[in-house]
Amino acid sequence: MNAPRPGAPAADAPQHLIGLHDMPAARMTALLERAQYFAEGHDARQALAGIAICTLFFEPSTRTRLSFQLAAQRLGADVLNFDASTSSTSKGETALDTLRTIEAMGVRGFVVRHKEDGAVAALAAAAAPGTAVVNAGDGRSAHPTQGLLDMLTLRQAKGPDFSGLKVLVVGDVKHSRVARSDLHALRALGAGEIRVCGPRALLPDDGTLAGCAVSGDLDAALAGVDAVMMLRLQRERMEDGLVDSLEDYHRDYGLTVARLARAAPDAIVMHPGPMNRGVEITDEVADGPQSRVLRQVGNGVAVRMAVLEALLGAR
Ligand code: CP
Repeated sequence: MNAPRPGAPAADAPQHLIGLHDMPAARMTALLERAQYFAEGHDARQALAGIAICTLFFEPSTRTRLSFQLAAQRLGADVLNFDASTSSTSKGETALDTLRTIEAMGVRGFVVRHKEDGAVAALAAAAAPGTAVVNAGDGRSAHPTQGLLDMLTLRQAKGPDFSGLKVLVVGDVKHSRVARSDLHALRALGAGEIRVCGPRALLPDDGTLAGCAVSGDLDAALAGVDAVMMLRLQRERMEDGLVDSLEDYHRDYGLTVARLARAAPDAIVMHPGPMNRGVEITDEVADGPQSRVLRQVGNGVAVRMAVLEALLGAR
């Protein structure tokens, strides 16, 4: 009997990717290993030949949308890009009717971003049996492919064994779907120590931080860490008054070269983008030798190839 093709979905593989909260470590590792294969320049040009995929974004995006498009093209898929601002949603068509309309054209993969928590899961639940839905970010809830590409970036810098790693997540965790997916992934992959730092008003009290060492003192939290994951201050999702001023936020929680010196000498700095330069991160750190920000972007293509192939490759 032939060995299964790398990246081919297992018979019991899930139909959709909604979050990382329920992804077993073995599946996560398999996706990361396949993504590493793609990151090294290998391709699978025929994997999705004849399959049509639509990027269905109801919120803005640069990195996620374009890297999903590129990933799908590199797997040989036909790619449709849905632009909410010029679509019939402006006439009141619902997201579900939109998905069903495009599904009726024969599209079998949907990459969906939506501002509401749970909206992508609801679309997945209503999709046809042969349709795969990938969450490209819903509200504050989850951004699973960002979590996976962050793990790939960590693996490339620090190796596949996370048990000795100290990882610090800094900033606006409360409004961050990226942080939630990163924390699920770090726990699943056995990160040795997960620290979280931010102002009390921007740290959730809903169980998101279970098992993390939580602090409001960035200088102390940085001591000896192997990786610093900075978060964007999400002013568009924030109620007034949570942050006094951007200057105060930068003074207390901005990552500067001087502060970064408290981390391990070979620590890496990550940020999912887009960055608020001069607020949560300085230009010198964002563009400095320890920054992996652009590596994260590149890894996004590889991770999204692995995810699309795993969900749609055998259909
Ligand atoms: N990291 C991220 O989701 O970026 P975009 O909003 O540009 O897709």
